[in-house]
Amino acid sequence: MKERSSPPTLAQRVADADLPTGPEKTALVRSMFDAIAPRYDLVNRLMTFGLDRRWRQQSARALGLPAGARVLDLACGTGDFLRILSGSGLRPLGVDLSWGMLAANHTGRPLTQADGAALPLATGSVDGVTCGYALRNFTDLAAVFAELGRVVRPGGRISLLEVAEPDHGLLLIGYRIWFRAVVPRLGGLLSDPAAYRYLPRSTAYLPATEELRAKLNEAGFSAVNRHVLSGGLSQLLTATRAGRP
Ligand SMILES: C[S@@+](CC[C@H](N)C(=O)[O-])C[C@H]1O[C@@H](n2cnc3c(N)ncnc32)[C@H](O)[C@@H]1O
Repeated sequence: MKERSSPPTLAQRVADADLPTGPEKTALVRSMFDAIAPRYDLVNRLMTFGLDRRWRQQSARALGLPAGARVLDLACGTGDFLRILSGSGLRPLGVDLSWGMLAANHTGRPLTQADGAALPLATGSVDGVTCGYALRNFTDLAAVFAELGRVVRPGGRISLLEVAEPDHGLLLIGYRIWFRAVVPRLGGLLSDPAAYRYLPRSTAYLPATEELRAKLNEAGFSAVNRHVLSGGLSQLLTATRAGRP
């Protein structure tokens, strides 16, 4: 096997058969989002036909929290969730790993650079958490869920949005062509080609529903529910922090 003298770039890793893990994954995810931040919103809108906005709204509503509740938007990126949360009368704060994504965030909301596996928040300090399309990007999902279990007060709610694949039929065929063939080309034209080749491959990191449910239970969440959105194009996991409010 050919030896590399310097660490592999994202493009090289994406071309490799294996996906990065551990600290290497964290570093690559961070540099990838730094690179795509300026055009992230544009590519997102195009590749979801604008449906991503509706999915975030559904996710925010599923929290079921009253106006004034303090909500952490984990992996807030450019801030779409923060806008929706504040528009619903909630008090959001955003955390993200990538300085580039935070710099592209124009919401004027309080933002913090941190890893979801080590949140700079006090125990029980938030009423809820939203998190959009980031589960598969976390290096240690169990550690992130444990942090959510720590910072959400008993009785608080989480609403985690992720990509999904329709079960069957024409929608599945269309989805596969779009997500695996068109999105990488579209992203490559408008933004960073390596990042948008990585995107469809990164779904391999996403555990099956039962494993996600078990990890959330282990982190102290009950009433874990999976909601299928738009025929299976996205999925939403909601849960309640166990314990007496
Ligand atoms: C696909 S983007 C989603 C951004 C935003 N939530 C949205 O709905 O558009 C994934 C985000 O996860 C962030 N991220 C990845 N790993 C992270 C980590 N360990 N801790 C915090 N944020 C992370 C990335 O920087 C990026 O902004």
